Amino acid sequence: MIASAAIEQSTLEFIEVPVSIENALHDAALSVNRKLDELIQPVNGAEARVYDAMRYTTMVGGKRIRPYLLINSAAIFDVHGDYALRAAAAIEMLHCYSLVHDDLPAMDDSDLRRGQPTAHKKFDEATAILAGDGLLTMAFEVLAHPDTHPDGGVRAELCHALAVSGGAAGMVGGQMIDLASENLELDIGAITHLQRLKTGAIIAFSCEAGAILGHASKEQRQALINYAHDLGLAFQIVDDLLDAEGDAAETGKPTGADAAAGKATFVSILGLDRARQQARMLGNQANAHLEMFGRKADPLRWMTEFVISRKS
Ligand code: IPE
Ligand code: IPE
Ligand code: MG
Ligand code: MG
Ligand code: MG
Repeated sequence: MIASAAIEQSTLEFIEVPVSIENALHDAALSVNRKLDELIQPVNGAEARVYDAMRYTTMVGGKRIRPYLLINSAAIFDVHGDYALRAAAAIEMLHCYSLVHDDLPAMDDSDLRRGQPTAHKKFDEATAILAGDGLLTMAFEVLAHPDTHPDGGVRAELCHALAVSGGAAGMVGGQMIDLASENLELDIGAITHLQRLKTGAIIAFSCEAGAILGHASKEQRQALINYAHDLGLAFQIVDDLLDAEGDAAETGKPTGADAAAGKATFVSILGLDRARQQARMLGNQANAHLEMFGRKADPLRWMTEFVISRKS
C-alpha cells in the first residue's frame, strides 16, 4: 500500500494523494509495458514491418493513464491481477491505434508523438495505417482470449463494451466530429458531446472494464462510468490547455496545433482561465461519484488530481 499524505493546497476538495501519484502510475506502466512486450512479439516473416511498427508505437512513452484506471477500477472488486493487466494492455493497444491514426496527414498531420517521430514518419503512411489496424484488432484478440477471464460471458461483455466505446458511437464518432468541426464555432454543449465521444468513451471503458471483470453491481458499474465521463472531460480540457500553453518538450507532441487547425476545443470557446476552472469543477464532480467505494477508490481520486495538474 502506498503511504498517503494530505496535500493542503490541492486544487480538488477532500483529496489525499499518494506521496507520489507518479510512482503509482509508473508501477502500473511497468507492468503494462511488460505485458505489451509479451503480447506483441516481433516476427521474422515478410510481415515483420507491421509488428515492428506496432511495437514502436506502443512500447515507448505514454503515461498509461487508461491501464492505470483499468487496473485500479478492477482492484476495487479484487479482480485477479493478470486478468486486469491483460485488459489494461488491450485498452492501451486501442488507445495507441487511435493516436497513430490521429497523427496521420489525413487527420492532425503530426510529426511528433511521445517525444519521438510519429509512426508514419518513422515508417510510412501505409505501415502506420496497418499498425493501427493491427493494434485495434489485437485488442479484441486479447480480450477474447480465455487467459483474460475464465468466464466467456465476461469476455464477451468486455469485447462488446470496447467495440461500443471505440467505435462510431464513441471514439471514432468523436474523431469524425472533431475533423468536421474544424473552423466551425461549436457551443459548449456540442464541444462536450464531441469530447465525451472522442476521449471520454475510452476512459469510461477503462473503468467499466474493471467493473465487468469484477462482476460489479449495476450501480457500481454506473458510478465508475459516471466518474470516468467527468474525468475524461477534465482530461481533454487539460489536453487542450497543454496544446495552447504547454511545452512540447514536456508533452512530447507539438503545441499550438489546435489553434492552427481551427479546432473547436474547450479552450477556444471558454478561454484559458474558464477552461482551467471547468477542469477543476469536473474533477470534483468526478470524485463525487466514487463515494460508495470508500477508501478502495483512493487510487482513482489520486488520478483525478494528476489529470488536473499534469504538464504532459
Ligand atoms: C492523448 O492521450 C490523446 C487524447 C485523448 C487527448 P494521452 O495524454 O493519455 O496520451 P499518452 O498515452 O500519455 O501519450
Ligand atoms: C485525439 O485528440 C484523441 C484521440 C481519439 C486519439 P487530440 O488530437 O487532441 O490528441 P493529441 O493532442 O493529438 O494527443
Ligand atoms: Mg485529433
Ligand atoms: Mg491530435
Ligand atoms: Mg490534443
